[in-house]
Amino acid sequence: MVAQLQRSQTETTRITPLMIEVIDLKKRFGVQEVLCGVDIAVPAGTTTVILGGSGQGKSVLMKHMIGLEMPDSGEVRINGRNIVGLGGRALNDLRADFGMVFQNAALFDSMNVFDNVAFPLRERTKLSKQQIAAKVRGKLELFSLDASVEKKYPAELSGGMRKRVGLARATILDPKIILYDEPTTGLDPITTDQVDEMIMTAKEKLGITSVVISHDISSAFRIADQICFLYGGRIVEAGPPEVFKRTRHPEVKRFLASWFEEER
Ligand SMILES: Nc1ncnc2c1ncn2[C@@H]1O[C@H](COP(=O)(O)OP(=O)(O)OP(=O)(O)O)[C@@H](O)[C@H]1O
Ligand SMILES: [Mg+2]
Repeated sequence: MVAQLQRSQTETTRITPLMIEVIDLKKRFGVQEVLCGVDIAVPAGTTTVILGGSGQGKSVLMKHMIGLEMPDSGEVRINGRNIVGLGGRALNDLRADFGMVFQNAALFDSMNVFDNVAFPLRERTKLSKQQIAAKVRGKLELFSLDASVEKKYPAELSGGMRKRVGLARATILDPKIILYDEPTTGLDPITTDQVDEMIMTAKEKLGITSVVISHDISSAFRIADQICFLYGGRIVEAGPPEVFKRTRHPEVKRFLASWFEEER
């Protein structure tokens, strides 16, 4: 199994350099071992989807990729550079290349929608007020949010709208890497399709590298170059969708079977 995993990963990685590489990552919280040696290789300009049951450590793993959590051991390489142990300033610089869509949208409650989306531009660029306004409006439009929501506060929005505002904010600086923690959970099918389209367009037009945590298997098969399954603190299956579908791992089979049941 491990050999098969390594083979399928080397096959993808031989073609393009790796943007993200997670090597033997281990993390425990107290007595709970959440990550027990995770390996993932994400080639530049591709989309990797991470699947797995609730509580398996997907969000924890993703936070390690951007230095929001530090492991007990192992490495996280971004563009070849190990970020484990980096300090605040270096991490801050690194994060300029990242956009992250958090599972719970994580908007600033005291700021309206416009200010939430404009925040990274004000923090990291010297754009004029007009330029900022134009960018923010363009991005909100991209996610089907019209001008009437600009002045609203997060508490006044539906869950799906908050999610879309979170997506607008994560992509406002046009980052090289975007990490999405369940970007479509709670969205209606049309908006889900739009988010999927956006992830695919970002890859095709801008060469963006994406890592997406998802519960939605049909969307995973649509957008992924590679699907990884996290179970028992390890990636137990990884490969392109068509290979992934033919998994022999019992837990992955069970996961896929429950989805086929639902589809019927
Ligand atoms: N900061 C923390 N301190 C202690 N335990 C934590 C912390 N963060 C996560 N955990 C624990 O680690 C485990 C994995 O959590 P995580 O949020 O990564 O799961 P997940 O796979 O993203 O689940 P879901 O699909 O429900 O979002 C859980 O048992 C969680 O309680
Ligand atoms: Mg999670």
